[in-house]
Amino acid sequence: MLDRIDHVGIAVADLDSAIALYEKTLGMPLVHREKVTEQGVEAVLLDVGDGHIELLEPLGEDTPVGKFLAKKGPGLHHVAYAVSDVTAALAALAEQGVALIDSEPRRGIRDSRVAFLHPKSTGGVLTEIVQPAEVH
Ligand code: CO
Repeated sequence: MLDRIDHVGIAVADLDSAIALYEKTLGMPLVHREKVTEQGVEAVLLDVGDGHIELLEPLGEDTPVGKFLAKKGPGLHHVAYAVSDVTAALAALAEQGVALIDSEPRRGIRDSRVAFLHPKSTGGVLTEIVQPAEVH
């Protein structure tokens, strides 16, 4: 059901200094930058192999990532797995009793369709499933 790791999401307080670390120091190509208002973040994607690092700066304190930063500070936020059909994957996970944060997929970065699973069902790891947009 889960095809591969699509990205690892990292919460950052300052997007530009985080980009400097990942792009300049760690050498990952920056491939996308976007305000994802649906998720309350400004985010970038950097390529690493077939997967990505997603850096997330909150658009405000009263957003999920803003609250995460206030509570835990910058660091690992979530792991995202690619699926071919996010609606079918969500249904299959719900059927197995996995607690869902999103019962319906919503828009994610770069026109993907995403849904989050509750960490209480995934060993304490906030888990995202993502159906990437068709690449044209
Ligand atoms: Co993500």
